[in-house]
Amino acid sequence: MSAPAPGDIYDPAFVKGVFDRCSGKYIAFSWWCSMGFTERWRRQCVEILPLTRSEGAVGYDLMAGTGEVWPHLFRRHPGIAHVTAVDISSGMHRRALERLHAHRDYHVEFIEDDALESRLPGASADFLVSTFGLKTFNPEQHARLAKLVARVLKPGGGFALIEASDPKGWFLRPLYLFHLKGVLPWIERLFLQGAQDFSMIGTYSTNFGDASGLAEMLRAEGLEVTFRKHFFGCATSVSGRRPS
Ligand SMILES: C[S@@+](CC[C@H](N)C(=O)[O-])C[C@H]1O[C@@H](n2cnc3c(N)ncnc32)[C@H](O)[C@@H]1O
Repeated sequence: MSAPAPGDIYDPAFVKGVFDRCSGKYIAFSWWCSMGFTERWRRQCVEILPLTRSEGAVGYDLMAGTGEVWPHLFRRHPGIAHVTAVDISSGMHRRALERLHAHRDYHVEFIEDDALESRLPGASADFLVSTFGLKTFNPEQHARLAKLVARVLKPGGGFALIEASDPKGWFLRPLYLFHLKGVLPWIERLFLQGAQDFSMIGTYSTNFGDASGLAEMLRAEGLEVTFRKHFFGCATSVSGRRPS
């Protein structure tokens, strides 16, 4: 991977650095700072995944982190045969392996790679999920992600991706933005002595907007797509299928 271009917060090497430094405290921070909403949204992401026959199904978890979505996935679809999880961060990878050792019943293989550069085989997945892995991509990277989703799904295969979003138009939006951009950096400074990495997550989230742009890109790739808002648009998701 090349050195990050100065100031480019979407450079994969820069993003990898942010998550490598966050990885030790990511699970606790994500739960407490979202007041449990991230767990609820991971569960909802799995609920909207159109997977009619999960027995023997194989698929991908992109931007998998430490495997936060796996408990939801295997609880709802115990018949899943295999998940290939992809994440760029070595720190997240290390902690994902700890999770795998703790739960020997998870059928997961972990690949440490830039998902957009990875050579996942075409028409190889019955399903694809991704939770909170969209915000660190810019629109050009979202277009590449849409192509990747369309390419790796088998005909009839389902996908669901969810991300924290900017709840435009919601009357409590100013409070939400204050939480993201005011309270979270303050918590990080006070308790985590971090390099403002969790604060970057707030910046990525507000830059991201919502998943409606990605929905259009996925449609342009020939996929059937449903766009949803979760909790007044504080998260948005895209789900659907590759037509059979
Ligand atoms: C906010 S975390 C989400 C982790 C997990 N899916 C969850 O539900 O909490 C975003 C993850 O995306 C990963 N990531 C960012 N850019 C990536 C890329 N280009 N390829 C693979 N993983 C990437 C980061 O390393 C990080 O682990």
